Amino acid sequence: MTTSSTASPALSFDYRDEGLVFGPDFVFGSATASYQIEGAFNADGRGPSIWDTFSKTPGKVWNGDTGDVACDHYHRLEEDLDLMQKLGLEAYRFSISWSRIQPTGRGPVNETGMAFYERLVDGLIARGIKPLATLYHWDLPQALEDEGGWTSRDTAYAFADYARLMGERLGNRIAGWITLNEPWCSAYLGYGSGAHAPGRTNDVEALTAVHHLNLAHGLAVKELRAVVSADAEIAVTLNLHVFRPEGETGPEALRRVDGLANRLFLEPMLNGTYPADVLADTAGITAWSFIHDGDTQLICQPLDFLGINYYSTNRVRIWDGKGERTNADGHKPAPGTAWPGAGMVEFLPQPGPYTEMGWNIDPAGLEDLLVSVHERWPDLPLMVTENGAAFADEVVTGADGAPAVHDVERTDYLHRHFAAAHRAMQRGVDLRGYQVWSLMDNFEWGYGYSKRFGIVRVDYDTLERTPKDSALWYSRLIAERVLRAG
Ligand code: FCB
Repeated sequence: MTTSSTASPALSFDYRDEGLVFGPDFVFGSATASYQIEGAFNADGRGPSIWDTFSKTPGKVWNGDTGDVACDHYHRLEEDLDLMQKLGLEAYRFSISWSRIQPTGRGPVNETGMAFYERLVDGLIARGIKPLATLYHWDLPQALEDEGGWTSRDTAYAFADYARLMGERLGNRIAGWITLNEPWCSAYLGYGSGAHAPGRTNDVEALTAVHHLNLAHGLAVKELRAVVSADAEIAVTLNLHVFRPEGETGPEALRRVDGLANRLFLEPMLNGTYPADVLADTAGITAWSFIHDGDTQLICQPLDFLGINYYSTNRVRIWDGKGERTNADGHKPAPGTAWPGAGMVEFLPQPGPYTEMGWNIDPAGLEDLLVSVHERWPDLPLMVTENGAAFADEVVTGADGAPAVHDVERTDYLHRHFAAAHRAMQRGVDLRGYQVWSLMDNFEWGYGYSKRFGIVRVDYDTLERTPKDSALWYSRLIAERVLRAG
């Protein structure tokens, strides 16, 4: 969003405040995604997804890692549910693997795949944990990619059919539905920079994918509304980017990247229009003729809340053509780009501290972001559907002789971001909850297993789970509803 670091009153606050109280309705939970944790890649009729193909393509994922086994959550469901209960989670945000339900992305339900999610949802409810289901967290059935993937309009309709099936089967039990997770990543990293599956690098395809993902969202909301319980909430999760403009050219740089990253999703979904300036900026790439009459009305469906994923911030200006070009967008854009039509924008290195991803730690960005979305759409409730940090954890022997992880930095990161969220609420934001990324260490996409985001440690040799100190800290926060240091 268009926030500026210099103007923010939040900066005077150091985000380590203690004693902040979260009300009884605020929903504390944690998040995961199917391909990142489930494993069991070919069990019980599951079809291949684009992440199976991509991770098995040499050179695409660090160390050649794949999600074949991951955390083996598929086979350790009961143990993981018990762990969530022990931590006191009030909600669990998971994603459904489309190709477990429809192995080729179309056709009848694969009942054994569906049974897994029924057990998951029933197990959550039995433990008093609210199920929040994401329908699409990047694992498109490979068969649909073979027909064009998100560059094909038909994929949006296939997604709507899948959404309806899920709504019919689980619509009486799921508290919150999230259609898409971070369509920015699906479109620009999947079809633009090629850093994510399916690994295509084409500006036209990336922008086409943006529209078809938006359309898929709108169609899916309509289908869900028709079949799920009236009290179920329906949302989408966006990774809205916080851009800090630098110098004289900062505002123009910001306008361009804010347009691509934020407004191309927010405006059709919430206002029913595409931003004219972005269509004009990208006119040399595409005429956007894939937007059909009536599409923006279909995309703009009433939402019960907006899910926001937040990790760090960006500093931008227009490149002056001098010296060495910085490109710190962190998504290895060459040879394709995650920023079609915005090649003149330079992403400057951010001041630290940083997480293990190299992402800067900036809790003020979360406060600014929540407030700016709220100011623009005051009636829309918000939820942080992901926030967390990767650090190089060390396993030590705890006082009781059992393994322990004293992840002070992760706890501090979470503490500061919860404080920032609290601060946003004090400024009027209707923030409904917070899902920490992630419940457990998992397959971090292009980085494989090299980056650990979990509040629970996973030993990838034994698959043993060990709650880190951050999990114990979080558990206490949930029980007391008062923010305290680690
Ligand atoms: C988000 C993704 C999530 C995870 C975190 C670190 O972009 O939604 O799956 O990879 O980043």
